[in-house]
Amino acid sequence: MTDVVVVTGAASGIGEELARSLAREWTVVAADLPERLAELELAADEHGFVAVGADVSRPQDVEALFEHAGRSGRIGGVVSCAGVTRPGHVSETTPEMFDFLIGANLKSNFLVMRAALLALRRQGGAGSVVVVSSINATIGLPSQAVYTAAKAAVNSLVTAAAVEGGPYGTRVNAIAPGLTRTRGMSPRAGDEPAENRAIPIGRVGQPVDMVGPVRFLLSDESAYVTGSIISVDGGLMHLRPPLTDEDRQR
Ligand SMILES: NC(=O)c1ccc[n+]([C@@H]2O[C@H](COP(=O)([O-])OP(=O)(O)OC[C@H]3O[C@@H](n4cnc5c(N)ncnc54)[C@H](O)[C@@H]3O)[C@@H](O)[C@H]2O)c1
Repeated sequence: MTDVVVVTGAASGIGEELARSLAREWTVVAADLPERLAELELAADEHGFVAVGADVSRPQDVEALFEHAGRSGRIGGVVSCAGVTRPGHVSETTPEMFDFLIGANLKSNFLVMRAALLALRRQGGAGSVVVVSSINATIGLPSQAVYTAAKAAVNSLVTAAAVEGGPYGTRVNAIAPGLTRTRGMSPRAGDEPAENRAIPIGRVGQPVDMVGPVRFLLSDESAYVTGSIISVDGGLMHLRPPLTDEDRQR
């Protein structure tokens, strides 16, 4: 039996592509919000993975997800991909929206990393956790202030979890996608030739661009890599775009 890999945020975008692709090599247990379970189940039937409804910002859902995964076999990897963004500068963001974005992007990753460390340690320790962060954690994006702050905190948790897990064989890393064409994060991405030109490699990323780096981090090929945040962004983070006229007029 192959090891189990848990993938969150699997009903759409990057997580959907990861669940499908990783299911060719591993037993994938894929989760998304309970209200998206029906569509996840359709994809699960087609691509051969197990679908679970779980809101990963809720501790009880994360616990149930890992219990389910543990019943499917030995957990060898966890990919924490679920995330949500909403536009909003600091001055425009309500406290309620702050709580929502922190719950969906920071608490969710904390809960999944925590459950992963505990589950892997119970099994003896060996395993790999990959978190899907964002280059915005490093370069900032004033128009998505809280999302960006949450991702920066996620990077910090990744490094802390890597130090915690290292002694017993659990590796924890992140990929940091750049602009990637998905419904959730960048619905317009790729429509604008200017967006493609703004990226050194010359095009907006696709979900499939994330598969190789995640597979590498899950596999023993990366046995000596932990605590790393790997940009998968076509070189975008090395640009420093100037403020737009709209930014200056705020
Ligand atoms: N697309 C981009 O340009 C981009 C860039 C950088 C980082 N990312 C990151 O990649 C990840 C995937 O983004 P995407 O672009 O594929 O977006 P997406 O909206 O297409 O997919 C996100 C998935 O996460 C699920 N989800 C959200 N909150 C959840 C929760 N609490 N519990 C369970 N599932 C939940 C959604 O239902 C959705 O299926 C996110 O973490 C995002 O921050 C995306």
